[in-house]
Parts: sequence; C-alpha cells; structure tokens
Amino acid sequence: MAVAEFITENRGGHIGLSAPRADGPLKVAGTARYAAEHNPPGVLYGFPVPSTVASGRITAIHTEAAERVPGVVAVVTHKNAPEQAPFTESDDMIVKVTGSKPVLAIDEIMFHGQFVALVCAETFEAARDAASLVTLEVDGKPTALDFDAAQAMAYKPNVINGGAPTDTAEGDFAKAFAAAPVQVDATYDTPYEHHNAMEPHAAVAEWTDGRLTVHDCNQGPSMCAAGLASTFKLEPQQVRVVSRFIGGGFGGKFGVHPHNVLAAIGAKVTGRPCKVALTRQQVFTGHGQRARTRQRLRLGADRDGRLLAIGHDNLAQTSGHDEFVEQSGVMSRMMYAAPDRMTTHRVARLNVPTPSWMRAPGEAPGSFALESAMDELAVALNMDPIALRLANEPPADPESGLPWSSRSLAACLQQGAARFGWDRRGAPGSKRDGRWMVGMGVAAATYPVFLLPTSARFTLRRDGTALVQLAATDLGTGTYTILRQVAAEALGLELEQVTVEIGDSDLPQAFGSGGSTGALSFGSAVTGAALAVRQKVADLARGDGGSPLRGLNSDALVFEGGKVSHRDDAGRGEKLAVLLARAAPEDGLQATHDEKPGDAAKHWSMHSFGAQFAEVGVDMDTGEVRTRRLLGAFGIGRVLNTRTATSQVLGGITMGLGQALTEETILDPRWGQWVNRDLGEYHVPVQADVPDIEALFVEERDDHVNVLGIKGVGEIGIVGAAAAIANAVFNATGVRVRDLPITLDKVLAGLPMAAE
Ligand code: MOS
Repeated sequence: MAVAEFITENRGGHIGLSAPRADGPLKVAGTARYAAEHNPPGVLYGFPVPSTVASGRITAIHTEAAERVPGVVAVVTHKNAPEQAPFTESDDMIVKVTGSKPVLAIDEIMFHGQFVALVCAETFEAARDAASLVTLEVDGKPTALDFDAAQAMAYKPNVINGGAPTDTAEGDFAKAFAAAPVQVDATYDTPYEHHNAMEPHAAVAEWTDGRLTVHDCNQGPSMCAAGLASTFKLEPQQVRVVSRFIGGGFGGKFGVHPHNVLAAIGAKVTGRPCKVALTRQQVFTGHGQRARTRQRLRLGADRDGRLLAIGHDNLAQTSGHDEFVEQSGVMSRMMYAAPDRMTTHRVARLNVPTPSWMRAPGEAPGSFALESAMDELAVALNMDPIALRLANEPPADPESGLPWSSRSLAACLQQGAARFGWDRRGAPGSKRDGRWMVGMGVAAATYPVFLLPTSARFTLRRDGTALVQLAATDLGTGTYTILRQVAAEALGLELEQVTVEIGDSDLPQAFGSGGSTGALSFGSAVTGAALAVRQKVADLARGDGGSPLRGLNSDALVFEGGKVSHRDDAGRGEKLAVLLARAAPEDGLQATHDEKPGDAAKHWSMHSFGAQFAEVGVDMDTGEVRTRRLLGAFGIGRVLNTRTATSQVLGGITMGLGQALTEETILDPRWGQWVNRDLGEYHVPVQADVPDIEALFVEERDDHVNVLGIKGVGEIGIVGAAAAIANAVFNATGVRVRDLPITLDKVLAGLPMAAE
C-alpha cells in the first residue's frame, strides 16, 4: 500500500507538528459537554442498587420503603424491568461487544456489587437515599473468590482476546528448555486493577417514538448502539449513542455496560429521560477490571545469551457468567527469536465482574512477566540486558514467519540508552545516593497494529471550508486534533477551515477508540474520503469553462494554501472557494469512504515497538520505591502530532508507574467485594509520584500498515514500563519482586541481605 501522496508532500505542514488541541478551548472554557451534563426536560435521576453478596438467587426484593421516599418515581428490579434479549455468548470479539448485555433481567447474582435494582427519582439525592432502603433476600450459593485455588478449576478457552489461538507450540519446548545451559523459570503475579478514568461512567437515555437516544461516555458509539439494539431487541437504526467528549476511558468505556442499559431501562419504565451517573465506588463494579493473572515464564539460553526456548503459561480470572481471556502470552509469541517455543492460556471462573480491556490488555501484564524474565536471564548470564535483547532480534515474526512491516526495537533500545545515560548503570546494589539505593532498569515494549472497519464522510463546502464526519471518539487523546490535521493537509486547507464532527452513532460507522486503532482507522477513512473529494474538485475544474485548470487531469494538480493549482505552474490556479462557489452544487462536494482492513496482515507482521527505561531510588531502611527518571523510546510509524502523541505515551508510562508501584484492587476473600473502591484507597499515580518522564520517537517509515503509515500510540506507552521499574528495583537492591505492585513490604523482605 502506498502511503498517501499528500502526507509525503505535507505542503501545508500540518502533519507531524505540535498542532494545538482542537477541543482545548472548549474544555478550558467548560463548554465541552460530557454525558452527565445533559439535562433534557423532565430528566429523572437513576441510582443503582448493588448486591451485598457475591453469589446467590434473589428470593425477595423489598422496594416499598424506597417507593415511599418523596420524589421517587419508580423502583425497577428484575420483576418489572422491560424485556431484554438473553446475554450473548460468543468467541467473536465484535459479537461480544455488540451482543446483548441485559441488566435486571434475572434473579441470579454473580458478583458482589452487581446492580439488582434501579431507583428513579426527581433528584439525585432522593434516588440515592431511596436506593439505600432497598433490601434483598438471597438464597446464598457457594462463592469462588480465591485466585490461588483457581488453578485447579481453570479450563482451556476456545480462543483468547482478539481471536488469537489459545495455545501455540513450535518445535519441542520441553526438550530444548531442559537441555539449555542457562535457564530462568519464574512465576509472576499481576493484580486486579481498575481503569479509574477522571470521568465516572454516566449515561442519559431517552425514548422518543420508539427510538432510543443515549448520551454516553462511550469509546465506540457505533458498537454501543449495536449492543443496546441487541439488548432491547431493536433494529440498529432505532438506537443512537452520542459521545462528543469523554473524560478518559482506557478500555473501561467500550461497548455496553450496566450504566447505559440502566439509563435506557429507567427511561423506558418511567416514560421520561433518565440519567445514571455512577459514583466512583460503583464504577468499580460497573464495567469490569483488569484480570488478575499468574504467568510462568521459562527461558532457556546458551552461554552467549541466544534464546533456545521460550515458554509462557498464563492463568487469568474470568467471571462466573462470561468469558474474557486476558491474552498475556501474545507478546512472548513474537518478541524474540528462539527455535523451540510454547504459550498457553487458561482461565478460571470466579464470582467477580467480567474483566474488561484495560490499556494494553495482554501486553501490559504479559510484558511485566516476559521482560522481568529477560532481566533475570541477563543477570544469570552476567550480560547487559540491552545486549541480550539485541542478540535475540528475530529477522521475521518467529511464529508466523512473516516479515516485519517495520521493527525499530533496536533503535529504541540504543537511542533510549544513549539519551537515558544507560552507561552510568552499575552492578546490582552498587549505587547509593544518601539513604537511597539507586538503580536502572530497561524493558522492551510492543503492541500490534490493526485497522478496523471505519467509514467517513468529507464535505468541502462552497466557501472552501470542510466538514469531516464519522462515529469516531476522542477520549481526551487528540482525535479531533489529528483528524483536522489530516483533512486540512489532504485539501491544502488551514486547520481552522476544518470542522470535525465525531462521537455520534448516526454518523458514518466506526469501531471506535480501542486497541490503538483509532488514529489509524479514523485517519485512513478520512483520507479515503478526502482523496475522493480531491478527485471531485479536479473533475469540477477540468470540466469548468471558467477555470484556469480546465482540461487538466487530477495528477497535474496540487492543493495548497486553500488553492488548487497546476503542479508545475503555481500561478495557474484559483482559490477552492472561488471554484466551488462558481461551479459546485449548493451542498458543496461530498464523498463517503469505507475503509476496510486490506490484506496487509497476510503479508506483514505489524507491530509498534519501544524501549522503557527507569531509574529508581529505594529507601534502604523502609524499602520504599521512588521513580527518579523514566524514559520511553518508541517506533510508532508516522507521528501525526508530536504534542498529542507525546501526551499519549507520557500518560501510558505514568499508568505503567501505577501498575508497578501502587495500583491493586483488593478483593475481600470472604464476601467478594472490592475493598479499596475509591481514589483515596486505590492509588493511581498523582503528580508527586511522577518524576521526570521523557518520551522520544525514533524515525520510522512504514509503508505497509495503512495509507497514513501510522501504527497507533494509545497503548504502547504502558507496555514494559512496570518491568523496567521492577528491573530497576533489582538493579538498585538485588531484590527481585515478581508480584505487582512493588510495595515496600515486598522489597523490605529481601533488603537486609542486599544491603549488607
Ligand atoms: Mo483500549 S484497552 O483498547 O481502550
């Protein structure tokens, strides 16, 4: 696939610059309206009632006291909820997202905090008060909550997330590993985590003439609308989901979740618009968590550090009622060369919510295990961990055999090391700064590149301004900004001449912002539509007797500075606004383009790569870990906007810092509730935790991935960050922590020996 010519020309200079955020002024002025800020006339407030047990059958639900609270309009339970389609089970990822997800449909409780009723009232306060008066009688059932015991009941799923195979095997791993002169065999644990976007989940639903409209904070309005249609047995066009602005998602706002179904239920039962805005505590059971994992890594190498065998066994938790298979082993399938290799995935059903995607699902936990194990191997070999990784660079994808579309891991490791001052790293436990033991660590990162079906409509108006429309979303990441850049560059316009309208399922369909697919899928669709409009402009000029460009073919034209001109004679041309006002139809020129994944994935193994560097200080008396410096170097193809791309990876690295040191949702082993379900007790990194963080992008050109040559930047920032910090903790102290997060008790247990 040839990279779009206009991107290569970049005459407008819009691509690759630090263009300011298109949505910035609206957010600063407080005029960007988020889902919960919609207040249609007559809106009711819906407050969900959570179950107080983790398992059982509801034998009675007492709503009378709640119904007597002044202002309460309805209390909805499984007894009076509208009919919904049964839960859709499927191995197919798209069907999982667009299938039915009923709420208040059955009397079965599957996890603590499951919403079992919805109180609709005139005020939020009345709804919340009344919700506290709803009581349940439950015929209790045995609960499964213990992840340590889960191994015994784990099963082999048909596929893992993304539709990838459950297990893979090349050669004879067992034999090669047993015979390897140097071996690492270690098990790593990653905890439950929650996304905790700044904006808690909220939806405002309204039924008008049988059509459901939901203002939601959704990462993919098209997918959510399809899912709500399945749930309420409607035709797809009977549901509209609008998500203009979203206060972060990280995977936790993708598809249908109880809050948007409840809002629709409340509106249906009362005949009035209904708003459901979850409290922070309710968010913890409102959309799923990052799956708990346990991963066994076995690496066998020769004494020169060449990998002979790679084995990665994964265990993750899923829920009692749904299957979600964290694909933690996928990175081990493609990262390093080794002739004999195997990966497995098993899941165990527990009475907890179904896990959901959380930034770099698969790679985020998987990279902690793989990249910690690589560090352990480097220690066993007495080899520099960067040299070890460079010695195992595969010339092609080790499992598929496909060539890389581009792979800049070596450049990321080398340029990152130079920038970070890696040569100042000492032997484990050898560097001090007062009471702090200081160390450096490195880890590699990767994330796959996918394009998902996306349509876009491009309108060039008669005044020379443009309108771009598609059901994309901006999670706060920069979608508005980059699509304006792409559209402006394609037609040679100024940024201010382009309006981007996204976040509405009534617009041309898009999968949404997920899996680092947004920029490249949306951008490619907008590019396709823009190129079609360019052609229409050329056709208009060619056939227009009044045009200085009459009779010319489109390849003789350039679009620059709001003008269309002859390629070799800049003086021969005219303003788009002049040409269109004279010759275009009333509505201007318009084209819609449907971008679909081509066959690139058949010919190329397509991934972003990166290298994470960390310097930590460990308090020699308390074991407290403080990151001092973090740096990530990434090869992500073309960078559309340095400002938004840098923000993306800085955010990812910061989230990796949380994964490394502070983030863990603790499950009460007796009752199954999340114990630390607020931001006071669930510790995301705050400003004071975040040190000097630097991001750099290595030069990379990839002509294969898509028409824009971009690889996606949403997830890779978190990948490997936790391993780099864990490896730095080892380098500082000689203490290896294989169980996230690295809290001081886990470090302290090993310290006396290291500090002697
Ligand atoms: Mo991302 S976890 O696909 O929002």
